[in-house]
Amino acid sequence: MEYLLTDIDETGILTITINQPKRLNALSGPLMKELGTAMDDALANDSVKSIILTGAGDKAFVAGADISEFQTLSADKAVAKSKDGMELFRKIETSSKPVIAAVNGFALGGGCELAMSCHMRTASENAKFGQPEVNLGIIPGYGGTQRLANLVGRGRANELLMTADMIDAQRAYEIGLVNHVFSSEELMEKTKKILGKINAKSPLTIAQIVKCVDANYDKNADGYDVEAQEFGNCFNTEDFTEGVTAFLEKRKANFTGK
Ligand code: COA
Repeated sequence: MEYLLTDIDETGILTITINQPKRLNALSGPLMKELGTAMDDALANDSVKSIILTGAGDKAFVAGADISEFQTLSADKAVAKSKDGMELFRKIETSSKPVIAAVNGFALGGGCELAMSCHMRTASENAKFGQPEVNLGIIPGYGGTQRLANLVGRGRANELLMTADMIDAQRAYEIGLVNHVFSSEELMEKTKKILGKINAKSPLTIAQIVKCVDANYDKNADGYDVEAQEFGNCFNTEDFTEGVTAFLEKRKANFTGK
């Protein structure tokens, strides 16, 4: 990998680090392509249980799309670029394995959009969030107008998108943009702790949670129906038998994903 570092620990947590710290980990086209490949590999690799996305260095998670690529972009190519980015971020959002963005600095523009496509976000105290696209005479193109409104509500999203204001980690926590704020030193450890809890559950139920929660945001889906169907599917699994038996036997369940 040219733009990313990957590391899988003994508990099955894969950390994907965007590794262009001199450019504040800006998302170039080739970097995005590599991230798509890394996600595909992670989803296909049985030893990966969950994923952390983070940025190299102590300054930035991702400071946005690579602005140097914009100068030569035609309107048609911009639409295609937007759709490619949306496809990648949708892959992350619908990943059957949980993905947490560990935001360790600037998460601006495409960086904020990338973090929002993850299932959860943790932030270090020095993290900063924003959608500054209007400063450049453009708008977000990787789903930012949609996901920000879903996460923080329409009024707050409009304010952030229209003013291009940056907010700090504490404010991001207050408005529901991030789940937790940790010190920089503890960010990875505490993020892994959350995933450790999730990894102890059946991966089947975690994938079902992703699917059902996502259905709430899908205008073509009836989320209640999706939930009812997935609830039913649970009863055909060995993990259901194990979960209930373990409870009755007063022991910890050992889920196998079957
Ligand atoms: N695209 C391309 N390069 C970027 C970038 C981006 N989104 N963000 C930062 N960089 C580059 C800078 O050009 C600079 O490169 P250089 O050393 O070759 O000049 C390097 O990363 C360091 O950034 P710099 O601006 O010097 O750091 P800073 O601490 O002064 O400012 C920011 C940090 C994040 C406030 C500033 O870099 C910034 O505003 N970036 C753009 C944010 C943005 O508009 N994102 C949305 C894009 S759609």
